[in-house]
Amino acid sequence: MSNESLANLLKEERRFAPPAELAANANVTAEAYERAAADRLGFWATQAKRLTWATEPTETLDWSNPPFAKWFADGKLNVAYNCVDRHVENGLGDRVAIHFEGEPGDTRSITYAQLQREVSQAANALTELGVTAGDRVAIYLPMIPEAVISMLACARLGAPHSVVFGGFSADALATRINDADARVVITADGGYRRGKPSALKPAVDEALTRPGTENVRSVLVVRRTGQEDVAWTEGRDVWWHDIVGRQSETHTPEAFDAEHPLFILYTSGTTGKPKGILHTTGGYLTQVAYTHHAVFDLKPETDVYWCTADVGWVTGHSYITYGPLANGATEVLYEGTPDTPHQGRWWEIVQKYGVTILYTAPTAIRACMKWGDDIPAKYDLSSLRVLGSVGEPINPEAWMWYRKHIGADQAPIVDTWWQTETGGMMLSPLPGVTETKPGSAQRPLPGIAATVVDDEAREVPDGGGGYLVLTEPWPSMLRTIWGDDQRYLDTYWSRFEGKYFAGDGAKKDEDGDIWLLGRVDDVMLVSGHNISTTEVESALVSHPKVAEAAVVGATDPQTTQSICAFVILRGTAAEDEGLVEELRAHVGKQLGPIAKPKRVLPVAELPKTRSGKIMRRLLRDVAENRDLGDVSTLTDSGVMDLIQAKLPAAA
Ligand code: WT7
Repeated sequence: MSNESLANLLKEERRFAPPAELAANANVTAEAYERAAADRLGFWATQAKRLTWATEPTETLDWSNPPFAKWFADGKLNVAYNCVDRHVENGLGDRVAIHFEGEPGDTRSITYAQLQREVSQAANALTELGVTAGDRVAIYLPMIPEAVISMLACARLGAPHSVVFGGFSADALATRINDADARVVITADGGYRRGKPSALKPAVDEALTRPGTENVRSVLVVRRTGQEDVAWTEGRDVWWHDIVGRQSETHTPEAFDAEHPLFILYTSGTTGKPKGILHTTGGYLTQVAYTHHAVFDLKPETDVYWCTADVGWVTGHSYITYGPLANGATEVLYEGTPDTPHQGRWWEIVQKYGVTILYTAPTAIRACMKWGDDIPAKYDLSSLRVLGSVGEPINPEAWMWYRKHIGADQAPIVDTWWQTETGGMMLSPLPGVTETKPGSAQRPLPGIAATVVDDEAREVPDGGGGYLVLTEPWPSMLRTIWGDDQRYLDTYWSRFEGKYFAGDGAKKDEDGDIWLLGRVDDVMLVSGHNISTTEVESALVSHPKVAEAAVVGATDPQTTQSICAFVILRGTAAEDEGLVEELRAHVGKQLGPIAKPKRVLPVAELPKTRSGKIMRRLLRDVAENRDLGDVSTLTDSGVMDLIQAKLPAAA
């Protein structure tokens, strides 16, 4: 990133110290940074002691064949045992592991002792279906307890799972089944979405007609909605309640090598064939357990933790299933959408279960902002003590709203930067240590080495901008791309020699704190200046009339690219002549004249992938008057028709 562009960076001066009481009782203090800096591998070896090993590892890191890492390679453990059985053995069998809240309002609280019985039964059922260590199992389920139980049952057997988000199409499912060569699919008749049952099994049936899926011999089907007529393939399909229900409630877990595969998870990349990110067991579980303990300050005896992500994303893998359960946490699992049956549903859940730690995404926070302050104000949110954010840069305005309206102006916000590939959190404030800054993920966690470099791989000074890189291996790092070591090397390790290239733009402020600027393909070049789409979006959202904004660079004969902004207005704001000028001027004032959008288009909705990322590629197509590319991964493809209808014919 050029130096001129730094003149455009937001001047964010607000600072928030940790609450004194939290700081005084925090799980992790500033000392952890020093200890980890003095002996990074020793630090991780200590964290590995959070786990119960069948064979204790003697070696921490084997980096003799970089970038192919082995962590704790001579250790052996069983991940499901660590997440379930050992808590029961430690006398915590009666503690609730999962408070399940179905969208229609049905609920189930599952203790660790119950979870142990159900995971054992599921593991026995998979064994009966012929699953053995190393076999891949695809999981295509709604957000119901069986999703977590299935993951743990696979982990118990050493059968790597590939969870496919329940919102994905038959095509996406078929591609993933094929790539991983899955032998069994676990699914449900359907799930509840926006107040209605929504079928899942038909997509599995369709996917299994595609070439490359022939090796699937069984489909295990959970009855969730019980409402549809479920098409049945005899000899292949089997109901969960038939086969799982009659199994023994005990199962002896086998210990596997620390580098035994735990799961493959496909990244939602906007270009190319999806990448199967491979994670293994010992290092992965060490880092997710440690970060969940440190970043959320988890006190398992008293906290009620809730991560609103779907288990189909890495956030759900690491911070619904593996991290929290390894730590013996009590957590909420919610099936549905935040506005069903009403826009206060999330806050009702926080009040009902006394949620103390909430982990969600900026896109959800902005949606809640748009619905209005009065909605969360109706509920008692006083139990909340730590708030987390993940998935994209959080705009300072959304950060401030989250703190004020959800966190009673005192709960610390931990803005956690990481990726499917990193497996666990990498950059984040620590709630009892860090003086937070709205919009910044701030610094690498203890034991993590990250920095910002320029085009020539030189570390930038404080105040400089460039690319985020990870400079040392970390325990929960991806081990490769499933079946494609070369692509692993090319994608992550070839841009900067010896450093992991994350693909995100970043800057360091004067204190050396790191601010993420979005994917590098989301940086615009305007008259020789690099301008981040995130910064222009933040500037727009800081205007009281704007609820949400998406900014793209459109090819421009004069300026290389020109800035085109799509904005969703807040409820009452009128869309008139003056408004566009007002917003342009507002951005100009915040970021400098060079960052003023050439066009501002008020729209009703923005195109988003099912994981909530704005599909800028489609907006660029619109801004450049092109035919739209592939819209199949949009949550609602009708959104693009609405946006195009708004455009003047020749813009
Ligand atoms: C990309 C990874 C990590 C779980 C969910 C997403 C962006 C993620 C932050 C954050 C700024 C963030 C990055 C990253 N991202 N968290 N706190 N601040 N950007 O996983 O789908 O693999 O996406 O999400 O661009 O590279 P993912």
